[in-house]
This record gives sequence, structure tokens and C-alpha cells, in this order.
Amino acid sequence: MRHTHQVTSTLNQDHQARAADITDFWRTAVVYQIYPRSFADSNGDGLGDLPGITSRVPYLRSLGVGAVWLCPFYPSALADGGYDVDDHRDVNPRLGTLADFEAMVTALHAADIKVIVDIVPNHTSSRHPWFVQALAAGPGAPERDRYLFRNGGGPESEYPPNDWESLFGGSAWAPVGDGQWYLHCFAAEQPDLNWENEEVREDFRQTVRFWADHGVDGFRIDVAHGLRKDMSEPYPSWVEIADIMRTDGSHPLWDRDDVHEIYADWRGILNSYDPPRFAVGEAIVHPTRRVRYAAADSLGQAFNFAMQDADWRPEHYLQVINTGLADMINFGSTTSWLLGCHDTPRVATRYGLPLEDKRPAQQVARAWLLTDGTTPRLDRALGERRARAAIMILLALPGSVYIYQGDELGLHEVADLPPESLEDPMASRSTTEKGRDGCRVPLPWAADGPSYGFGPQAAHLPQPDWFLDYAVSVQEANPGSTLNLYRRALALRSRLFTDSDFSWIESDLSVLHFARAGVRCMTNFGAEPVPLPPGEVLLSSAHLDHGRLPSDTTAWLRMP
Ligand code: NOJ
Repeated sequence: MRHTHQVTSTLNQDHQARAADITDFWRTAVVYQIYPRSFADSNGDGLGDLPGITSRVPYLRSLGVGAVWLCPFYPSALADGGYDVDDHRDVNPRLGTLADFEAMVTALHAADIKVIVDIVPNHTSSRHPWFVQALAAGPGAPERDRYLFRNGGGPESEYPPNDWESLFGGSAWAPVGDGQWYLHCFAAEQPDLNWENEEVREDFRQTVRFWADHGVDGFRIDVAHGLRKDMSEPYPSWVEIADIMRTDGSHPLWDRDDVHEIYADWRGILNSYDPPRFAVGEAIVHPTRRVRYAAADSLGQAFNFAMQDADWRPEHYLQVINTGLADMINFGSTTSWLLGCHDTPRVATRYGLPLEDKRPAQQVARAWLLTDGTTPRLDRALGERRARAAIMILLALPGSVYIYQGDELGLHEVADLPPESLEDPMASRSTTEKGRDGCRVPLPWAADGPSYGFGPQAAHLPQPDWFLDYAVSVQEANPGSTLNLYRRALALRSRLFTDSDFSWIESDLSVLHFARAGVRCMTNFGAEPVPLPPGEVLLSSAHLDHGRLPSDTTAWLRMP
């Protein structure tokens, strides 16, 4: 059997036609996602910080990324890793100062690396001055109108207003002791804002301007699909709204049509800068509605999580690539390919666990985490091999690629973190998830030291002994390491794949094979080696087998 999956030639024509406009960095950038608390610690308090990032700019440059996206570094009690923001326009003193931020931006720009920061507009922290004022002001006060307070149910308001659940588990409502409850779609420390309130709107306009004025090139919008809500009664029950993937904008909490008024407003601000500032939305929405967030008069790009959700199967990759490429035509944007982020079990681990027919790899990995990584058995080498093959597919595709810190080291999920060390609110709120700490363990930079070079002291989450083998210094000394593969692939990508042409080459079902700019990208998902077409092998994710492409391997070839 062979693939009959060709994307029509219109794709190529459309891409060519648009190529002239495609000068924005973000359309093709390789963006490196930094989770600041876990990247590099300069002062030995166990938490990564902004000077730590600045100290690693040479590393980022040697990796060859075009941009970094920083998860929140704002003042915060870190109840949700910094997504609980006390002040959207300052730096957490534990992570640095505004001067440190400016120094970091200067160093990154000098290395030709753009800077993208996270904006968290769906909620503040419960320590935010607005929330403190809301609690003090009492029911009915204008200070409460910035959030979503409602009266409780029952004679004593002892019940929440409805049965809605937090995405982290448990009720989405918390009582404040005066008969009212507030909505928190995430942790109780993250009260949801009321986006019908003009003060809220104006405040975020200021936040966008503030960071743009501090030199950032773009924004990643957290929970972009969640800002507008229909809080009118009667409330639908949780069961009625549990499926959030609606196509008509009718869900009371997610992906409502009027959310786009906010982004049209922001686009005006973003376009008032030269060059216009970029934005990418974290929009967990039905695929047909992603276009609204990715439109030029809205954010401009929306994350495409489909690759991260796919199993290591050729048919999954085929489908995700075809949909992503078709989206590029329909959206007039580019697809943002990614294999992982700070919310997902690491890709090397997902691909090293047994494939199941009934559960996607994401679910298998989450269930495995609940066993502290004991069952089923993780095949580390297999997972790394597949993750190497996978990143070479992504880097050969038209569009932009997001790399989550540590994936360039082939890091695995840390599954056996002791319960008392867990920081993710999901771990404490949910009865069915161990949480996301396993992919947030501080990076190993060196083979020794109290935290493998992360900082001068122990790291805020314990690093396992096996991190030693993955340390940057160890991998730098090994030409065949995953880090060196990433470096070579990124360097080649920027030279080879400069326009957006794409066409599939007919192949066996277990093989994915496509052409771009006279270069072929071929991946063997099957168990047996397959012959390669004639041509010069530019890079392969594993050693070839007597000139053939082995199992779980990708090669890039220049055609004769
Ligand atoms: C999405 C972020 O990626 C995640 O880490 C965070 O917990 C939620 N939004 C809430 O802000």
C-alpha cells in the first residue's frame, strides 16, 4: 500500500503568491520556549531568573533559534508557576528587576534573537491589588465588578453558584465569606477577570504597550479563548458544557465570538509599532475556529497543538501536516508546529512508551506518571530516537517551530518526583493527574555541581541522577548527541528551507516523504530499513543502515 495523500498544487501556488509578503520573522521562526524558573539560576536561590537567561544567550545563539518565548516572570506567589500574576507590568523580584529584563532583551537582540513574552489576561492572582480591593469592598462594590463574583446557593450561600469545575480539578468557585463566590477556571489563586469591565480592558492595553515599549517583539496570549464569558442565569450544568469544542461560539466560558473584539483592539496597538508586534494565541478551540485567532486583524498566529497530541504514527503525522498546511492557506498565517511545552509530558517520554490503540500517547504518559513512571516500562532510547526523527520533520515544514526548553537535550519527563516536592496546583487539586512538574525540572547544564550547572545551589525541583547524561556540557562533547543534532538541523534549516514550497512524494504507508526547495525529508516509521532515493544525505537523525533509512529515523537529502 502506498500513500495517496498529495496536497493539491494550489497549496504551492498560494504559498508562492504570498511569499513576497512573508517577511515577518515569526512566520518561519524557530522559537525556543523558556520556562524562566527552570532555565538558569544566577543567584543560587534555586529558582531560574532573568540574569540566568542573559548568561545563556551564547547557548541560545549556538542553538540557532530566531526567537525566545518567556513564560511569565512577573511578580507572583508562583501558585501556578507564575501564571498567577500579581502585577502584569513588573518583574518578580525573585527572578530579577526591570533593569535585568532590559539587559536580557539587549543581549538577545544583539544575538539576533527576538523576544516574545506571555500575557495572562484571563485572570490575575489572588494577591493582585484589584482582588485585594475586591475582597475588602464587599458585595455590589465596583471593585468586585473587575472579577466574576456571584452569590452562593442555599439559604446560607453555602453552595457554589453552579457546578462548574476548575480545569485543575474541583469546583471553579471559591467562597469569600460574605455570601459571594468568585469564578476561577484554574486555581483558586487565579480569579477570572470580567472582560466586560472597561478598567480591565484599559489595563491590558497598558500592559501590551508597556512590554512593547520595553523592546519585546511579540506576545503569547495565555488562554486566548477564555476571556469573554456568558454568566447569565440559568447556568447550564457542567455536563452540558463539558465538551468545550463547539463550532458556534455558544459555550459560556470558551471561544465566544465577542473575544475577538479584544484582539481587534490589541491589533491596533500592536500595529502602531514599527515593525508591528507579533502575537500568538493559546486558543484551545475547535480546529475550524483557530483561524479567527490567527487572522491578520486579530492575533496573527494561533498555536497548533495537533502535533503535540499526535502519536508517533505516520497516519497521524500525515493528517496533522495536511491540516496544518491547509490552515496556512485558509488563515493567511503560518502554522506553529510543536512537539511539547510546559503543560505536556515530554516528547521523548511520550514516544518511548508503548503505543496503544485506544488511548493517545498523551493519555498513556499521564497515566504512567500516576505510577511514578513504573508502569508500563519506558524505553528511553526509543523515545529519544523518535523525538530526534520528529523534530527533523517539523524543522523541514513550512511555518514556524516552537521548541520547549530541554527537548533539544532529549530530556525525559521526571516521573518520580516525590509528592512533597510537587508545585503544580493540578497535582493538589486533581485526583486523576500527577501534574506538570515532570517537564519543568530545571535544566542540566553541566555534569557536576549541586544542580548540574543550573545554579550554584540545589534547584527548586529535585533533578534525578540520570540528568547527568543529558547535561549540555556532556552533549557538547558528543558529536552524535541530540543537542548537536538540533544545532545542525537548525543551521541547515535556515539555509535550505527558505521558501514555503511543499509537496508530498508518494511512498510506502510506513514512510513520510516530502520535498521542499530541492531537498527531500524522509522518515521511516516502520520496523525495517527502507531504501533512500539517490541524493546527498545532508543530515539524518540516526546512523544509516548500509545506505538505507533505518526504523524511526528521518533524513534530509539534496536531490541530484
Ligand atoms: C495555560 C498555561 O500554559 C498553563 O501553564 C497555565 O496553567 C494556564 N494557562 C493558566 O494560566
